[in-house]
Amino acid sequence: MELVPAGPDVDNRAVLEHGNILYFPPAPGGAGFPIPSAVLDALTGTTQDARAIHKNIAYKPNKDAVSGLVDKSQTVATRDAMRDYSGRALKFLATILPEYAAMWKVDYASFRSIEERGRQLPLTKRNDLLHVDAFPTRPVFGDLILRCFTNVSPSQKREWLTSDPFPLLAEREARNAGLEGYAAKSGSAVESARRAAWRALHAAGVPLVDRSPYDSFMLHFHDWMKANADYQKNCPKYRFDLPPGSTWLVFTDVVPHAVLGGRLAMEQTVIVSRKSMKDPSLAPASILERMAGRNLTS
Ligand SMILES: [Fe+2]
Repeated sequence: MELVPAGPDVDNRAVLEHGNILYFPPAPGGAGFPIPSAVLDALTGTTQDARAIHKNIAYKPNKDAVSGLVDKSQTVATRDAMRDYSGRALKFLATILPEYAAMWKVDYASFRSIEERGRQLPLTKRNDLLHVDAFPTRPVFGDLILRCFTNVSPSQKREWLTSDPFPLLAEREARNAGLEGYAAKSGSAVESARRAAWRALHAAGVPLVDRSPYDSFMLHFHDWMKANADYQKNCPKYRFDLPPGSTWLVFTDVVPHAVLGGRLAMEQTVIVSRKSMKDPSLAPASILERMAGRNLTS
């Protein structure tokens, strides 16, 4: 995997789908897209308690609301700054990835305001251990998690560690992590009964999350990777320092990643339809379905 600088001759979808980072270096007037200094000032002025329950401050574009802030007096300024970043990031992404934008689902933006080095978090929430992303409350049913990050620190680099992307990761570890067990549930009588019960409860207004076997496996895989000392120690590692003002894009369910240090990063997520990929066979769900010999996402 590589950090690929964006440019006119770069095929953005191919770079991302093959498990690379698409990189926009800092430049006069901004990196991938300009961020007004008033927005940067508001973000750098936001304080967050490292003991907060929420790992990050989240902005939900569909509700125009922030969550995770401890100091409520900062809500309006932080929300306005995050709304601005979210809007600019989405416009920028739609310009450079129009095929994805035609079908994507806009997800949350986040603000990572706490220094990552030395951060004390429970094992499955630690950012300094390599993992692929999966969302407990927002299953993707085989679609992909694309994230646009910007280092909004005025002075501090953001230190990333990555490993070989999903095709190699799955070949090496998916069976060790129990893929067969999750695949066996797909289409089974127990699974069908569970989904039927879920539909009945959902219709009755119970807020339950319906997941495909793929989503269940990926949630498990996220935790399994973090807990697997052999993988963490012995997998191939690639180190990237992202300077202040830089922007980078990555499918975080394709590329194992960890953050070793840095403070003040913004991020916007979109859920990319597998159908809009240049090569849908590279989707993690497609890879796992080939390995399992069955559909995992219906
Ligand atoms: Fe992550």
